[in-house]
Amino acid sequence: MSAPDEYFTHKGILFNSKVNVKSLEDIETLAVKEDDVFVATYTRSGTTWTEEILSLIYNGGDVEEVKSTPIYTRIPYVEYKYFPEGQTEYERFLELPSPRLGKTHVPYNMLPRQLQEGRGKLICVARNPKDVAVSNFYFNGMNRSFKTPASWDSFLYDFMAGNVPLGSVFDHVLGYWVHRSNPGMLFIKYEDLQKDLHGTVKKLADFVGHQLPPGTIDKIVDHCSFKSMSENPMTNYSKHPEQRCRFDTSNSEFIRKGVVGDWKNHFTDKQNEAFDKMLEDKLSGTGLEYDFGI
Ligand code: A3P
Repeated sequence: MSAPDEYFTHKGILFNSKVNVKSLEDIETLAVKEDDVFVATYTRSGTTWTEEILSLIYNGGDVEEVKSTPIYTRIPYVEYKYFPEGQTEYERFLELPSPRLGKTHVPYNMLPRQLQEGRGKLICVARNPKDVAVSNFYFNGMNRSFKTPASWDSFLYDFMAGNVPLGSVFDHVLGYWVHRSNPGMLFIKYEDLQKDLHGTVKKLADFVGHQLPPGTIDKIVDHCSFKSMSENPMTNYSKHPEQRCRFDTSNSEFIRKGVVGDWKNHFTDKQNEAFDKMLEDKLSGTGLEYDFGI
């Protein structure tokens, strides 16, 4: 695998070099429109799943329509450098007709200020951090913009120390969690999507002000199953123009396993003990809890 580009630090947070510094700066002063919606996550927490659901909520459950355009074209990843080359994703977002949907991985304090003040809508998706660690381990291994982990053990060590792009998952998610009651903000969990996809689709639809008949929700649920999304070229990134140079799918697919609790197949007892201690230190008193198995 080719060597990754260098990482860089912006406002104390590590980013991979496909992230555009100017966009990071511009995002903060974005003139947010009332009907803008952002999906914000730490990587590998259910971003794509939530994006596909939102896309369908906004088009009234028209499954055929979403089959013609890749998810990353429909919903720009606003701090990402370019797609297609020559135009940043942020510039592309600015040109979208309203209502605009955007995706971001930035920490809460780097979001558009107006979004933080309650203009537009913000959906944060969080996932139990043990599965986030495992999923990022595979993702770092297959994405050539990231440093390939030397081993699971060394990756987990770096992940727990926050020595990975986006820094500590605990700090990143808590940055959102403390604002979960802000007007215009919804905080959901990957495990909620797993436990009750129908109910969570409805919750998302209600949040963005779309009343969908139960039959439409059923259609969205069907289209957004793991099997369907992992086989769908519009969601599995197999059609991404950078796919051949950016992703090496010989080890792992972008939509990989889609379960709660895969961490049990990776963590040793010792790693699990150290992780639980860190969870206790970081989360006690915050009210943030996760499902580590369902
Ligand atoms: P795994 O690596 O554990 O399989 P993101 O979109 O934020 O990068 O998150 C990717 C993770 O979400 C991957 O986790 C991927 O498989 C999972 N995922 C994507 N679509 C899914 C779906 N429809 N059902 C369940 N999991 C899904």
